[in-house]
Amino acid sequence: MPAQSMDALVALAKRRGFIFPSSDIYGGLQGVYDYGPLGVELKNNLKAAWWRAMVFERDDVEGLDAAVLTNRTTLKYSGHEDTFTDPMVDCRECKSRWRADHLEGDKCPSCGSTDLTEPRPFNLMFKTGVGPIADDENFAYLRPETAQAIFTNFKNVVDATSRKPPFGIAQIGKAFRNEITPRNFIFRVREFEQMELEFFVPPGTDEQWHTDWVEERLTWWEDQGVPRDRIELLHVPADELAHYSKATVDLMYHFPHGVEELEGIANRTDFDLGSHTKNQADLGIQAKVKENTESNARLAVQDPDTNAWQVPFVIEPSAGVDRGVLAVLNEAYKVETLENGSERTLLSLKPHLSPIKVAVLPLKRNHEGIVAKARGIKQMLQALGLGRILYENTGNIGKGYRRHDEVGTPLCVTVDFQTIEEDDSVTVRDRDTMAQQRVPVAELAEFVKKALQA
Ligand code: GAP
Repeated sequence: MPAQSMDALVALAKRRGFIFPSSDIYGGLQGVYDYGPLGVELKNNLKAAWWRAMVFERDDVEGLDAAVLTNRTTLKYSGHEDTFTDPMVDCRECKSRWRADHLEGDKCPSCGSTDLTEPRPFNLMFKTGVGPIADDENFAYLRPETAQAIFTNFKNVVDATSRKPPFGIAQIGKAFRNEITPRNFIFRVREFEQMELEFFVPPGTDEQWHTDWVEERLTWWEDQGVPRDRIELLHVPADELAHYSKATVDLMYHFPHGVEELEGIANRTDFDLGSHTKNQADLGIQAKVKENTESNARLAVQDPDTNAWQVPFVIEPSAGVDRGVLAVLNEAYKVETLENGSERTLLSLKPHLSPIKVAVLPLKRNHEGIVAKARGIKQMLQALGLGRILYENTGNIGKGYRRHDEVGTPLCVTVDFQTIEEDDSVTVRDRDTMAQQRVPVAELAEFVKKALQA
């Protein structure tokens, strides 16, 4: 069973140092969160798992890490200046603002009044001044999606790598949206991260690739501990599609607050490359694009058979890192009643996602021999390159086990008198089963490697 409520996750995240409200000591900043000591590890591990699957394990994807600050013209031709809006209403009674499509029964969620303004479009992009003479004309946007820089770098990447469709460009990074009503913890925030792949394919093969990518992504989420039966597929209705999309399948996950989008997989057609291209007329672009007089590039490839220029179609799996963290935490969160009637909370995270892989605990805080041995074991395990190994000298092993259950550490290694006086073995305790076994230090590295692969 996943967590029963968002409150349980929020409390655990704060208590154990996963996620904090940002600018907390000054009352916070709505829709902005900071990742703490364990949150940064979990998030990095999730991003690394995505990068491994998307870039390292495939031979048809290249990586990119582009800037957040984005030339205004990019977001003019991408369509975001005109269409990246949500409908906003004001309550005339209490002066609060709401997203019109989030209202229940056309009532103000704050005061209950029905005296609301007509919905009007509100552009979600953040603007920022660039240089000393920032004014209404001289500004840049904070990117609202990482995707656009992949499109504007398309020619650079093709020239540098000689790639031909089908191939993809992957990117992980921050995106910013001035959400009218950020809510549900890290689900809807104003600063977040995306893991996006733009996969360029020959026109005509796009629908098959779209289907294939939906399957790929479901398998990947399953590998992160988010099973298929907790994700519903939503084929987005035509009248709700983003301006660039011909078809979108949303992966709708059972979050604690409801079934909502974890990832969107869109068929963006040739809209984006076409929109950012000069001299579009002879390229046979299928999407409806604005004439582009400002680009200096032709974002197209030559058909290997006919030599004709062609604008590839794009399939885009786009996942939110923060929503991923929330889903993974939710699935891993468990409360168990033990035989003696007490309760334990544990995060049953997949080992590759656990912030701490192994905690090494000396039985006695001030015992020189035990402490030195434990430090040595920490260093030996750290050198294996499996992730963070924590040496923790509190002297209370029982409490240590409970704490590490709660933060998802798969293994605890305890160094005691038997280790240093008798047989050079340690106690290894398993998070999920709570089983303990003696393992010779000489075999510990292999034991840990095997256990963490499971
Ligand atoms: N490039 C396509 C794109 O940006 P999107 O559906 O608007 O599509 C993709 O966003 C993913 O980014 C979503 O599925 C979600 O996981 C995440 N996301 C979008 N807005 C978010 C927000 N305000 N807070 C947290 N995550 C968000």
